[in-house]
Amino acid sequence: MNEISLNKKICRLCDAPSLQSFLDLGRMPIANAFLTSEQLKDTEFTFNLEVGFCEKCFIVQLIDMVEPNKLFHENYAYFSSISSVMDNHFADLANEINTEIFYDPTLSVIEIGSNDGILLSKLTGYALNTIGIEPSANVASAARKQGLNVISRFFDSSLAVELSEKYNAAQLVVGTNVLCHIPDLNELAKSLNIVLDDEGVFIFEDPYLLEIMHKLAYDQIYDEHYYYFSVTALQVLFARHGLRLFKVEPISVHGGSMRIYGCKLSSKRSTDESVVRQLAIEDEQGISNLSSYLVFADKVQQSRSSLVELLHKLKDEGKSLVGYAASSKGTVILNYCGINTDILDYVYDNTPSKQGLYTPGTHIPIVSTDNFSSDKPDYAFILAWNHMEEIVAKEEEFRNQGGKFVTHIPEARVV
Ligand code: TYD
Repeated sequence: MNEISLNKKICRLCDAPSLQSFLDLGRMPIANAFLTSEQLKDTEFTFNLEVGFCEKCFIVQLIDMVEPNKLFHENYAYFSSISSVMDNHFADLANEINTEIFYDPTLSVIEIGSNDGILLSKLTGYALNTIGIEPSANVASAARKQGLNVISRFFDSSLAVELSEKYNAAQLVVGTNVLCHIPDLNELAKSLNIVLDDEGVFIFEDPYLLEIMHKLAYDQIYDEHYYYFSVTALQVLFARHGLRLFKVEPISVHGGSMRIYGCKLSSKRSTDESVVRQLAIEDEQGISNLSSYLVFADKVQQSRSSLVELLHKLKDEGKSLVGYAASSKGTVILNYCGINTDILDYVYDNTPSKQGLYTPGTHIPIVSTDNFSSDKPDYAFILAWNHMEEIVAKEEEFRNQGGKFVTHIPEARVV
């Protein structure tokens, strides 16, 4: 069985019968399950992409989830190093960690979800041991080739015990875009307590719920993202396990994320004013009220209608349309909006392992960005709006010869 259906009322994290479904994006393939031409004739695995809000602990979560083994494996399609913006982002984060967070070179550093080592490589040398944890074997091996110490497993309390027996306590546990990928966050919090030094710090950055709601970025909702975080919900979760958030910082990556800093309750670190401020903003925005989520769901449906209308209008005018970036978000947009080869001829992408494959569910051929401007499509719909600036800057020639980009965030339009 690959699809784990919850009792639809029970919150996955606090067990209260307070989970309220507010948005159903329909049957969905796995967002990163790009297909070979031979696989096109097979029946694709799909699951129901539906999101709920827990009225007790305020966490927003997928109602049906796909087993992690089906998502994070030896053919994981996402390599963190594909984007120069992300590379700079990790350099900035590493710089801050190296100068402000590390306090004892005899202690360890653990990165959860270290992917191809883009951050881990920048943290090495500041602690006795720097350990990456990465269940997807192919990206883990890319990191090992650079000489990094990576364990290819899921981070849970049994691994935490092994780590604490083998290595000194952690002065830092860091994870970028990874907390939302972990189905059992109670287990994660337990594991943090096991590996962390008493004055150790954890840092996580994940897509931020308020940004998703403001931008109508429903395409952040997909199989790998089991949760959509507010600071309010994270505070409740960590407090339940004797952990405390001491600083939060909004950051721009992945279309608007929140970086959270936490420690043990007993730590001497004082709580920064940023936590209080963000909690007040969230309260004002109704983050703890089901009605806010129902309004969001209504707007998502309107967003779909206006995007479909715009793309059909351009097609009816005889324009050629393609997609740009075979992202996971793209899979959600294409399937939810019913956009297939009737509308988009190709999806261009710079990841070699995706080229030659087809988009999940909608079966649009993925081709290399090398030929993008010379193919001269009239319109390119950006399927990774979070990278829009980088893509538009990179594809100057396409625009110079009259090509135009289309985006749907925060509303469908030609840019
Ligand atoms: P991203 O939004 O990072 O990931 P996700 O899959 O989590 O939604 O999407 C990255 C995709 O965009 C990836 O397949 C590479 C592609 N891409 C390009 O083709 N060109 C670019 O310039 C950039 C930045 C990304």
